[in-house]
Amino acid sequence: MPDKLKSIIWRKDHLLVLNQLKLPLSVEYESKKTLEDVFYAIKNMEVRGAPLIGVVAAYGIVLKIKELSEKDDFLGTVNKGSAYLAKSRPTAVNLFWALERMKKRARDVVNLSIEEKALLMEKEAIAIHQEDAENDRKIGEKFHEASLVYNGIRILTHCNAGILATASEYGTATAPMYLAHEKGWEIKVYADETRPYMQGARLTSFELQHAGINTVLICDDAAGAVMSQGRIDAVITGADRVARNGDVANKIGTMSLAVMAKHFGIPFYIAAPISTIDMKTLSGKGIPIEERDEKEVVEWFGIRTAPQGIKVFNPVFDVTPHNLITAIVTEKGVIKPPFEENIKKLI
Ligand code: MRU
Repeated sequence: MPDKLKSIIWRKDHLLVLNQLKLPLSVEYESKKTLEDVFYAIKNMEVRGAPLIGVVAAYGIVLKIKELSEKDDFLGTVNKGSAYLAKSRPTAVNLFWALERMKKRARDVVNLSIEEKALLMEKEAIAIHQEDAENDRKIGEKFHEASLVYNGIRILTHCNAGILATASEYGTATAPMYLAHEKGWEIKVYADETRPYMQGARLTSFELQHAGINTVLICDDAAGAVMSQGRIDAVITGADRVARNGDVANKIGTMSLAVMAKHFGIPFYIAAPISTIDMKTLSGKGIPIEERDEKEVVEWFGIRTAPQGIKVFNPVFDVTPHNLITAIVTEKGVIKPPFEENIKKLI
């Protein structure tokens, strides 16, 4: 396993993705060579996490363009490919943000030769990738500059908003943790298991343990008790979409944590790049919430755990109302209430 985990590696004619379905038992990179490969990698959650989905989708468009010749309909192909990828997952706005950016770039380069088009579209995807990498470190720095984290802090996190959810070496919610670790601070991270897909157990505890960060895995149901025992100083999670008014969609269970954090007087922070803020969506009510296969609930990785025929409801994201959020930390700065006003000011 590499010293520093990497969620993806771009290799010009293919994308290597760390197959997250196999973690933590096996660290395996798989080659994605076509737009369709990329679609299924996102849909089946081999890659997941809002920023990472956006970056991977951008490379998916590049792979499609590399198949084109001079006589093919370049703009039509980019638009069709984007519409196809946009159907892979509905909630994380970074997917749509990255596809819009690729479509815009396609319009800019439409009059060039196919070789130049392919080169410049690839450059755009690499730029999206690199910006993600740079932004995440900055998100961590903003936490530190504002003293939202400190030596000795005990943080609760949910799902995986780490290296494995991004294309960076820091993640978003984990960026302040990795920076604290670089400084030699003693921090402790409680990671929720995150039913039903177990991103906390399989991914967050894996990557933080790999980095040597003091990490304790808890059942989702234990979070309230752990807070009530005075073991948590702050909750930090990522986001899949931040609405204009500051409501935040994130992994199912996030909203319950925010309610409990409010009850126990614990600050509740969202860490997210600006690309996760969706100014077109006025409030959380307008955020589409993905529902996934009932198998995720009635089976435990292939083993049936509920009776045959039971009805299942499996929404995989929820919306935390902005009044439960202490601050949203982006690469450009810390946004505090009133969110609508302060988001507008910042971006
Ligand atoms: O369903 P997932 O695993 O894609 O959900 C991921 C999350 O909810 C993350 O918290 C969010 O995307 C932020 S990742 C930096």
